[in-house]
Amino acid sequence: MSLAVVNQKGGVGKTTVALGLAAVASRRDLDVVVVDLDPQANATTGLAVWTTPRTVADALTADSDGALVGVVTQSGWGAYFDAAPRVAPSTPALAQLEPQLALDPIGAQDRLRRSLVGIDADVVIIDCPPSLGLLTINGLFAADHAVVVAEPSAWAVDGVAQILRNLDRIAERRGGLPTLAGVVVNRLARTRDARYWDEQLIETYPADAIRPAIALKAAIAEASAQSMPITAVARSGAAEAAAQFDRVLDHLLRAADEGADPNTSQEGVTDAAV
Ligand SMILES: Nc1ncnc2c1ncn2[C@@H]1O[C@H](COP(=O)(O)OP(=O)(O)O)[C@@H](O)[C@H]1O
Ligand SMILES: [Mg+2]
Repeated sequence: MSLAVVNQKGGVGKTTVALGLAAVASRRDLDVVVVDLDPQANATTGLAVWTTPRTVADALTADSDGALVGVVTQSGWGAYFDAAPRVAPSTPALAQLEPQLALDPIGAQDRLRRSLVGIDADVVIIDCPPSLGLLTINGLFAADHAVVVAEPSAWAVDGVAQILRNLDRIAERRGGLPTLAGVVVNRLARTRDARYWDEQLIETYPADAIRPAIALKAAIAEASAQSMPITAVARSGAAEAAAQFDRVLDHLLRAADEGADPNTSQEGVTDAAV
């Protein structure tokens, strides 16, 4: 399964959800590759990778089939899992690449897709930047499925609607891919306001809103601050958060299974073995 994690807004929890899913998938012994498409490189550092000889920017620059194979490296989560996630690391230089991509009328959108050929994994998770620019578009052209991360706050519904329009336009050009694997609500606080916006999201997207939501929890912020998987955080609330990610992963794998069209499934990326 290949999954793009998207929202044009920053700070909603795309990277947190990408890494939470990577952690619980690794705990299940699934072979995970995280592709960090954000120049802020939060997924890269979250996976405890600090120095990177090659990055996603190199693969996108190369513009060739399989260019990402030589970029993917071990993450720093090796101590926590038998099969730790691997990562295609990002770098701030990726920000300069985006305007350059716009100058390429032929290969601006599908460079990541081409670069993934030959990447062998059960789950490829593509952490997208907070915009609907060409990097995110590359993510959506490369993934078979997309998950939208939304915060239960004002106008989240409008933001999700905007992404879904883009998703539809790409799917029209790609034989129905990526399919929407769901909308995950993240940072659900126990306030009336949060509950209100959460309900708005469920009402607007009854079939796609994933339950449970991911609660606002100090353990989750601590995991990212310490570059640790949530499954390895010892403080209270961590196990509960990991269990929420686990159920979100179940939903996504199920949705991927139902929505996958084997005829158009991406070459080189094997389907999840669950
Ligand atoms: N459910 C949560 N509970 C507590 N903190 C969270 C939660 N989700 C995200 N955060 C924190 O919020 C910040 C932004 O999240 P991040 O995943 O980086 O957002 P994005 O990738 O969408 O920009 C990070 O510091 C992260 O640790
Ligand atoms: Mg991020």
